[in-house]
Order: sequence, then structure tokens, then C-alpha cells
Amino acid sequence: MFEFRNGSLHAESVPLEAVAREFGTPCYVYSRAALAAALAQFQSACGGHDALVCYAMKANSNLAILDLFARTGAGFDIVSGGELARVIAAGGDPGKVIFSGVGKSAAEMRYALKSGILCFNVESAAELTRLAAVAGEMGRRAPVSFRVNPDVDARTHPYISTGLKENKFGVEFGAALELYRAATRMPQIEVVGIDCHIGSSLIEYAPLLEALDKMLGLVDALAAEGIRLRHLDLGGGLGIRYRDESPPDVAAYIRGVFARVGGRKLKLLFEPGRSLVGNAGLLLTRIEYLKPGAARNFAVVDAAMNDLIRPALYEAWHNIVAVRNSGVSGAVYDVVGPVCESADFLGKERELAVSEGDLLAVMSAGAYAMCMSSNYNSRPRAAEVMVDGEKTHLIRERERTESLFALEHLLL
Ligand code: LLP
Repeated sequence: MFEFRNGSLHAESVPLEAVAREFGTPCYVYSRAALAAALAQFQSACGGHDALVCYAMKANSNLAILDLFARTGAGFDIVSGGELARVIAAGGDPGKVIFSGVGKSAAEMRYALKSGILCFNVESAAELTRLAAVAGEMGRRAPVSFRVNPDVDARTHPYISTGLKENKFGVEFGAALELYRAATRMPQIEVVGIDCHIGSSLIEYAPLLEALDKMLGLVDALAAEGIRLRHLDLGGGLGIRYRDESPPDVAAYIRGVFARVGGRKLKLLFEPGRSLVGNAGLLLTRIEYLKPGAARNFAVVDAAMNDLIRPALYEAWHNIVAVRNSGVSGAVYDVVGPVCESADFLGKERELAVSEGDLLAVMSAGAYAMCMSSNYNSRPRAAEVMVDGEKTHLIRERERTESLFALEHLLL
């Protein structure tokens, strides 16, 4: 929860100025209460139904966040062996892990089988063949759900749209029945579910319900052949408010889902990422220089595209606010970082009343922010801090410059 108190932006009860003094900038700051509230909202919307919320941890995989969610009973949607290792390191239950992704390696399959995950979301016939071989070698049966591509337009940014037939994701809708039949004949495979994920940052949930209808058609067709599924997984995708969007209401969406599922005996799984963490975090940065110009004014800050790539990659809009609200009107700035690229901007044409040395907060930076950061320009990754009431926890140390090249070797 982020709000102004006495003209100064706070994370819960802690002024961001104090966070910057103690931990430096750039720094990601999360609110524990906001994280917990977002998960609780999803879970309570599912209350009374057989359902499991599996946090899509690619959105933010810091161990402290996984720990918080695991304690509240969440499962996890993973896309790599690395993410599974994080779940286990954070004390999460592998029995609540689902493994998505188009390119799982044999080593990742082995690790996931050994760990006893809930299921593999299989995305192709070739992946099924490989999984059966790996499970066979290990003398195990692999629990499988097919990720079906419903060919539904999620009406979101093309880079984060996944449910159209031209996207690389999922098995073709028309090929799904045959694949299920083949899988039920494989002794190393246990068919347990069906899933889809049509895209991210959806600002309406109608496309999700459209996809659900298509999935239910398949569930019924399979049941008619005696193939009974235990669960249906609708993926993630609910958007959040970055600017003035009206994001889908979680409770209304979940009600819509259960109304359509009706009396079918299916457990429902969800894979929300952004909607659980996006607005629970911000990126705190300090203005190094103000650089007025004839065409543009620039506020050069100490965070850059390596810390938050969304504006450069998707032209994503994040609100940027001065941490100390002077109440006076300011000038219009492009907020840019020190990286040597013209795409290195965090926001364009923002009205800010600021001076050199002031702090800015780039809002809605809990999702797909720190986890997409890089060391471009040999910049150490930012620190991450979680605020809990009046307490602050350093949940990731700022990287040290030496660690950037610790794995490199000079020529002999
Ligand atoms: N499940 C699967 C299989 C996914 O691929 C994703 C996201 C999710 C769940 C979670 O979706 P969410 O609830 O967060 O919308 N980097 C982009 C977003 C990429 C999303 C990738 N997949 C961004 O910064 O907007």
C-alpha cells in the first residue's frame, strides 16, 4: 500500500525517503500488505469451490514473495527448472506446482518428476513423447495437462498475446482430442487436466470466458469417450491499473467461471501473475541531473532500462511521481536513465515539480520488472526491500560490481 502522508510518499508506514537513505537507489520496494491482499482477494473469490491459485512466479520470483504466498496456501506456475528450485528454496510445496512452457528440457522434466510436481502443462506432441521417455527411464508416471490453444483474441499487446493460432503456445485446438487419446494409451503418462493461457494484461475478461467455453467443449467431448479430467486450468492474464484502465474485477471473473463450469466435477486452477504483484511494488530512483532543452527537458535518473525494461520493450506506461509532493506545478520531463540507448526511458512527457537529487517512484513495478532486469552497461541490479508495517526487510541485496564479472576469465 503506497500513499502520501504529510506530502511524502510512504510504503505502508515507512517513508520512501527513509528507504532510500538506508538501502540506496535504484531500489525496488514492495508492500507486504498489498501482496497479501491481492492473493487473498483471488483466494476468497474462489472460496467454497475446489480451486487452487498457482502464482505465475515469472512475474516476480523473489524468494520472500514466494515464501509469503506459499504460507498462504498458494501453488506456483513455473516455466523452468530454475523457478522450481526457487519454489523449493522458499519452502513452497512442489505438489502444488504446475510446469508450463514450450521448451522443457529432459533435465528439467527429470527434476520436476523427482520433486513430485502437480502436473506438466504439455504444449506439443513432441514434448509428450519426450516426457513419456523420461518418465519411463525413471519408472514413474508423469501427470499431464495439455495446454490447448483456443484461438481466441485476448485483445492485448501482440508481444504478450498467446492464444491465437499463429502464436507458438499450446497444442492446436483441432489436434487436442487425438493427443489426449494418444496420451491415455501411454503407460508412463497420467492424464489429469486441461489448460490454456491466452495472454497477459487483459483489461476485460470476456476473452477468458470465451476460451473457457471452448475448453469445456473439449472436457465434455473427452468425458463422452471415457477420458475424465481432474482439473481445468485457465491460466493468468488479468490486467491491472497502470494509468486509467479499468482492470477486470477478480470476483466477477471467478463467478463467471464457476457459473459456466456448472455441475462438472472439475478442480479449477488459475495462474495469475501480474494481478498479484504488479501494484504491490514500485521502483525508487533518484534524479542525477535535470537537463533542460529546446525540444525536450530530461530528468536523468539513476534507474534505467536495465532495471525496468517494460517502457522500452512494450512502450508500457508507468506512473511516475515525485516522492516529496511540493504541491507546486512543475515542468514536463522525459524521465530517462544513464544507459546508452534512446530507448532508455522510464516515462515520457511527465509533469514533475522536481530538483536535482529528488526521489521519484515509478509505480506498478511489482510485476515483470526486477525479474526482467539485466546487467546491461555493467550496471549492478537494484536492491529489493519489502515493507511490512513499520519494518523494512532487505529481500535482495544490491549486486556488487565484482559479482558482475566473477564468472569471467582472463586469457591464460
Ligand atoms: N501462465 C502462463 C503460461 C503465462 O505464460 C503467463 C505469463 C502467466 C500465466 C501469467 O500471466 P499474468 O497473470 O501475469 O498476465 N513481460 C510481460 C508479460 C509477459 C507474460 C508472460 N506470460 C510484461 O511485462 O507485460
